[in-house]
Amino acid sequence: MATSDLTPATLRAAFGHFPSGVVAVAAEVDGTLVGLTASTFVPVSLDPPLVSFCVQNTSQTWPKLKDLPSLGISLLGEAHHEAARTLAAKTGDRFADVETVSRESGAVFVVGTCVWLETSIEQLVAAGDHTIVILRIRDITVHDEVPPIVFHRSRFRHLSA
Ligand SMILES: Cc1cc2nc3c(=O)[nH]c(=O)nc-3n(C[C@H](O)[C@H](O)[C@H](O)COP(=O)(O)O)c2cc1C
Repeated sequence: MATSDLTPATLRAAFGHFPSGVVAVAAEVDGTLVGLTASTFVPVSLDPPLVSFCVQNTSQTWPKLKDLPSLGISLLGEAHHEAARTLAAKTGDRFADVETVSRESGAVFVVGTCVWLETSIEQLVAAGDHTIVILRIRDITVHDEVPPIVFHRSRFRHLSA
């Protein structure tokens, strides 16, 4: 591949070599669950406690989430291949067969995942065709026994495989 071949397809393929965790970003809006899958999650700061993910500017879902007081971030586990795809589906119920818990704040978490972060939006940074969403952590729940799922070159993998 030529180094000047910076098309979205070649960039996506190159970025795919970087293994990442996968999170569900979810909230309840007027009694309806809203969310999406993201593999761009990055821990950012300990003090203050900040994390981030990048959202496509074309997202139909982000406008429904971006003004909410609280967003739930669930770090998906090995059992969540299906949930990761379902939560990213263009059509149909994104929460079909995905067991969730809703908090009073509106944050929604996927049951059986590794870590739950109750967050609020701290800052939005325009970055090309994506926006970097910086979130402040308000509450943490860790399930140490759940191994995370890893997204690598468009496939879900396990740390042990
Ligand atoms: C494994 C995986 C990782 C994804 N990571 C991101 C991401 O980091 N940022 C993003 O905006 N969309 C990501 N998506 C796509 C979204 O989950 C969703 O499909 C997309 O936002 C289109 O739906 P929408 O228009 O309703 O937002 C990912 C999808 C999958 C399956």
